[in-house]
Amino acid sequence: MAANTVREKKLVILGVTASIAAHRALDLIRLLKAGNYDVKVVATENALHFFPKETAEVFSGNTLETSAYGLGPRVSHVEWAQGASAVLIAPASADFIAKMALGLADDLLSTICLASSARILFAPAMEERMYTHPATRAHLSTLKSWNVQEIPPETGSLASGRSGIGRMAGVETIYAALQKSIEASSSDSRDLLGKKVLISAGPTFEPIDQVRFIGNRSSGKMGYALAEAAIRRGAAVTVVSGPVSLIPPSGANMICVETAREMQDALSIHFHSADILIMAAAVSDYTTENSFSQKKKKDGQDWHLHLKENPDILATLAKSRRPGQTIMGFAAETSLVKKDLQDKLLRKGVDLLAANNISEAGSGFGSDNNTISLIDHDDSLSEEKSGKKKDLADWLIDKILLHRARSLTQ
Ligand code: CTP
Repeated sequence: MAANTVREKKLVILGVTASIAAHRALDLIRLLKAGNYDVKVVATENALHFFPKETAEVFSGNTLETSAYGLGPRVSHVEWAQGASAVLIAPASADFIAKMALGLADDLLSTICLASSARILFAPAMEERMYTHPATRAHLSTLKSWNVQEIPPETGSLASGRSGIGRMAGVETIYAALQKSIEASSSDSRDLLGKKVLISAGPTFEPIDQVRFIGNRSSGKMGYALAEAAIRRGAAVTVVSGPVSLIPPSGANMICVETAREMQDALSIHFHSADILIMAAAVSDYTTENSFSQKKKKDGQDWHLHLKENPDILATLAKSRRPGQTIMGFAAETSLVKKDLQDKLLRKGVDLLAANNISEAGSGFGSDNNTISLIDHDDSLSEEKSGKKKDLADWLIDKILLHRARSLTQ
């Protein structure tokens, strides 16, 4: 297969780990160079038992690195990790796959994998028993859940002389997978480039005493999906998150808070410089008047809590908005009545309101899916849509951008 020529030179970090298949990485370097990619080879120490360093340097035109130490005053691994279009690990040993899945960073290559926001692909190469071992299967599925792409091995003769699955995929297959992946990412729209997006997500917890709190069922999934989509589309994203058990969106400036007051303080700091505010958090409307600094013991009496209203963060921020800012609020409703939503849109002073019916089965709090009714002031963008929160996030960002484009022409 002839390597396709790409116009713009993109950097690919080629990671090489210890495997008898490492020598085939030389053919990969040649294919990548012929495809007009810049190639930086980073090998693990043990890979060098199987991989000729000097030859790799001649083929790639760059020095081969194994260690983050001695690279000078600049944090090169972070620079490469962020400047690369892709990190390709071929061959990827069972040991290195485990390292990636555990987030270890004890050498240059594993540090790059952890620091990079580029897509990561890996081509396993190992004995069949290692590839089919439950530990490796678990690591592979963890990596898959993070969108780290496996280029599966083939069945064939292995280093041990046995035959089975575990032979690294052909270099042309690997190259084609890499190119497809890079093309897919560069066709992703970067329509939020240069924009600052501030997103609130998750619930707030209002303390009752040292162990108890008032919370709600928000999982934060919608807010995190919005953050991921905005980052992918080029925005600088700050997430103010209540307590959730989700992996923070890679590349976001994360601010973790507990109470509505803390959320308000954090949002107020970042709102002024934001172009877009998306208020996806489920803010507790009430907080306790006084919370106990220690655990309150049972005393045989009923316990009456006195709750006071929290500030309306969104309405307060919207009052201090500057021209050019776009604000989207969310509404968690048990029934969607258009008139009520229009009232909320006005009351909150937002441009767009995304309402979800939390009593609908299979959508809303905690679910990966949602049904959203979107409304705006002149109804020109109003629409209802169901789907995965991930896809709805892109749809909502499309609507925000449409709103911004229309405001500019008015
Ligand atoms: N919100 C806020 N501050 C609050 C309560 C809500 O900023 N104290 C925000 C939410 O993040 C959401 C929007 O306001 O973006 C609507 O939240 P919702 O709970 O639907 O509305 P409420 O203002 O609480 O009104 P109600 O529950 O009475 O319908």
